[in-house]
Amino acid sequence: MQKQPKTKLQFPKRFLWGAATAAHQVEGDNHNQWSVWELENAKTKAAQSEYQLHDLDNWSDIKSAAKRPDNYVSGSLADHYNQYEQDFDLLTKMHMNAYRFSVEWSRIEPEQGVWDAAAIDHYKRYVAALKKRNIEPVMTLFHFTLPAWFSERGGFEKRSNVMYFTRFAEKIVSELGKDIRFIITINEPDIYARESYRAGNWPPNRTSNWQMFRVLNNLAYAHRQVAKRLHGMNRRYKVSIAKNSAYSYAGDTAWLSHASAAVLQYMQDDYFLRKVVKHCDFLGVNYYFSNRVYGYRVHNPDIKVSDLGWDMSPSNIEYALERLYEKYKLPIIVTENGVADQGDEYRQWWITQTLAGMQRALDSGVDIQGYLHWSLLDNFEWAHGKWPRFGLAAVDYETGNRTLRPSAIWFGRVIKHLRETK
Ligand code: BGC
Repeated sequence: MQKQPKTKLQFPKRFLWGAATAAHQVEGDNHNQWSVWELENAKTKAAQSEYQLHDLDNWSDIKSAAKRPDNYVSGSLADHYNQYEQDFDLLTKMHMNAYRFSVEWSRIEPEQGVWDAAAIDHYKRYVAALKKRNIEPVMTLFHFTLPAWFSERGGFEKRSNVMYFTRFAEKIVSELGKDIRFIITINEPDIYARESYRAGNWPPNRTSNWQMFRVLNNLAYAHRQVAKRLHGMNRRYKVSIAKNSAYSYAGDTAWLSHASAAVLQYMQDDYFLRKVVKHCDFLGVNYYFSNRVYGYRVHNPDIKVSDLGWDMSPSNIEYALERLYEKYKLPIIVTENGVADQGDEYRQWWITQTLAGMQRALDSGVDIQGYLHWSLLDNFEWAHGKWPRFGLAAVDYETGNRTLRPSAIWFGRVIKHLRETK
């Protein structure tokens, strides 16, 4: 299934090599709709963990963490809010020249219409610390967390609430914009809409198809509004969304499998992208897995699975990128890609396969401009809490120590080599 990479790697001259995080997953001590929900749900989640996760191969390894309520409360995490300088040094150590992060709206506008000058100053220093290291910032405005006041007003369920998000976007970009070019308005709109409004897994735990589509449409509207405003402020801003894209393919020759894979792909990617593509300067793509379809069901090979039980098919990134480029003709930045792998058994293999897949896509003419690995640090994996470990750097939550995993040290050498051999 996986092709062995014999591919010679040669990436474009100004390629962005970096890593990504999101505010709520690393900063620590945020107060938003998620932190409220965590406190309300931690005990239940811990109690249900055995029932929900015991099928995972690694259940015995994660059991003690997954059964503890504090696993589900973000708390102080890696304290990246205060420790960002040492975290940016890790980027430098890995010879990276780009970093994706998100600004936390609930810090910047803790109450409706009230701007927190100290939080804005913090993000100014944060971006300056990246620029000082010659690292290109890629800034996300909405990565799943919202100020509590905004979600109490109905969040993105109401189209009339979009103006608050637009106002926040204008404010933060007018404050930080002189040092920023790349702006992601919304991270994975359909994951957010599905998990929060149909699957009922994330706050506000709704289970309605109708609400999911309403939120999705409002997010598309929000992107268009923000993109128009930002372009109006300065045409140099390169605006996009970060679109999750799993590659869907038929596992056999049956027409039903082919038809289902096509419908799945359309619903996942194109339903949303068609609504925003005219307002994107590039396409941010998050790739984690593929969907192999038999009949109308997804049934993945599962030859190798991550700690989260996700099928690992990293080289299929090639097909995801080729399809998106052929369809939308926008330059692509891979805004997330990575694997939950606490023991660091698979990460080097994963990255090797991914680079080879990207190279084949480049060779077939896809304009790829960057690769941002998820994640720089171990972080808070939403409803799963703290046990899944996506970090290039392992974080010890007791001591706060960060240690680059062996795969990260290797990846740093690869990046150095790729950036030097032009
Ligand atoms: C999200 C991240 C998340 C990662 C791994 C993406 O869906 O943008 O916030 O941690 O995937 O699940």
